Amino acid sequence: MTSAISISKLTVIRDGKVIVHEFDLEIESGKILGLLGPSGSGKTTIMRSVMGLQRLTKGAIRVFGTPAGHKSLRTRVSYSTQDASIYRDLTCSENIEYFRAMQGISSNSTGEILELVDLTNNRKQLAATLSGGERARLALATALVGKPEILILDEPTVGLDPLLRRDLWKLFHRFTSEGKTLLVSSHMMEEADHCDELVLLRGGAILAKGSPAQLRKKSGHENMNSLFISLVEKQ
Ligand SMILES: Nc1ncnc2c1ncn2[C@@H]1O[C@H](COP(=O)(O)OP(=O)(O)O)[C@@H](O)[C@H]1O
Ligand SMILES: [Mg+2]
Repeated sequence: MTSAISISKLTVIRDGKVIVHEFDLEIESGKILGLLGPSGSGKTTIMRSVMGLQRLTKGAIRVFGTPAGHKSLRTRVSYSTQDASIYRDLTCSENIEYFRAMQGISSNSTGEILELVDLTNNRKQLAATLSGGERARLALATALVGKPEILILDEPTVGLDPLLRRDLWKLFHRFTSEGKTLLVSSHMMEEADHCDELVLLRGGAILAKGSPAQLRKKSGHENMNSLFISLVEKQ
C-alpha cells in the first residue's frame, strides 16, 4: 500500500487553545478519505496543514513522501477552500483561464478542465448566472488546473441539494477511478457512504476511523448520525 498523504501526531495550538490534537492519518492513493465532523472540529485546520499553510505546533505531514508544502508538490496537490473564489463577472472559461494564468500552469487546457466537470456548454456563461450545482462544479474546476494527483476539497457539497450532491460525488469517484486521491470534508454524516475511508472528528481529535462498513460493524449503528452521537456520548 502506498500512502499519498501521511500525517503523524499533528497538533495545532492557537492562542493557548488546542485545535487539533495528536492527529494520525494515512491516506491510500486512489481513495476518497472523508473527514467528517461538526463545525469547529478542526477540518479546515487539518486541510490547511496538509497544504503546508498552517503553522504546526507538533507533528509531521508527508505528501508522496515529501514534507507538506514543499514546492515540488505545488502542481501535484490542489486545495479548494470552503468559500471558493470564483469571479461572478467572468465567464466559466475566463475563470479557469484566470486560475491558469495565476498559477502559470499550462499542463491542461481550459476546454479540457471544463469538460471534466461537465461545463462545456456553459463555457461562455457568466459565473453570476450559473445555478448552484454549476457554480460548485466551476469551483471544483479551479482545483483541477494543473492535473493534480491529490485534491483537497473543503466542504465542496455545502449548500447543495441532495441530487446535486450525489452528482458531485459521482464526479469525485470518476476522479479516483483515474487514480487521483481525494481528501474531502463535510459536516454532514450523510456523506459518509460516498467515502472509501472515514475519519470522524470532534474537538480536533479522532472519534473513530475506518470504512463506513467497519464503523457500522464496530458500533452496531446503521445510521451515521446515531453512530456519531453514540461515539460522542461514550467519550
Ligand atoms: N485564526 C484562528 N485563530 C484562533 N482560532 C481559530 C482560528 N481559525 C480557526 N480557529 C478555531 O479552530 C477551531 C477549528 O476550526 P476549523 O479548523 O475551521 O474547523 P472546521 O473546519 O471543522 O469548522 C475552531 O474552534 C475555530 O474557532
Ligand atoms: Mg471548515
